[in-house]
Amino acid sequence: EIHALNRIKRKIREIKDWPKTGVTFRDVCPLFEDPKAFHDAIDLLRDRYSSYQFDVVAGVEARGFVIGAALAYSLGKGFLPLRKEGKLPGPNLSKAYQLEYGSSTLEVQNFCPRRGLRVVVVDDLLAKGGTLEAACFLIESCGGTVVEASVLVELSSLRGKEVLEVRGWKVFSLLKYDEA
Ligand code: PRP
Ligand code: MG
Repeated sequence: EIHALNRIKRKIREIKDWPKTGVTFRDVCPLFEDPKAFHDAIDLLRDRYSSYQFDVVAGVEARGFVIGAALAYSLGKGFLPLRKEGKLPGPNLSKAYQLEYGSSTLEVQNFCPRRGLRVVVVDDLLAKGGTLEAACFLIESCGGTVVEASVLVELSSLRGKEVLEVRGWKVFSLLKYDEA
């Protein structure tokens, strides 16, 4: 597992001062492109969630789709997309949230009953937590229960995990970076 985590870590690119000065961007696209590292990442998540009781994986647009769809497939689950505003034919539920650089809105389709649906929510990265908080809020708004929110990368100094945990949502990350 240590080898797998190192392989994953080596494929996460670090871009200083992007998209703005003072921000270090962690780019998971090279990890997606590398067959071994990508398989390792999905397999580690699959191993974790194979013992969980849940119904569906929800992925956050855009990079959460890549991980979430692969994870859902590997566990024989369905996939529920949480999309950026204006992309889904409704009826939808919407939730606006703040990002480190700007604001955005996520949406989930809301035309079928989801009461009691148990959901693992997936994204590539947890920074300040606004994105995953909105994602988990939408899952609960449409009747589901968040089993856990899961990311490849957590920027722990930005304390996004606390934002979720105070609302009662559990968080799991494969990799943590202490510096912002
Ligand atoms: C990035 C990243 C996470 C979010 C984390 O997405 O993929 O979704 O920011 O930030 P937070 O924890 O501070 O909310 P971004 O909004 O850049 O869009 P993308 O995934 O569609 O590229
Ligand atoms: Mg994102």
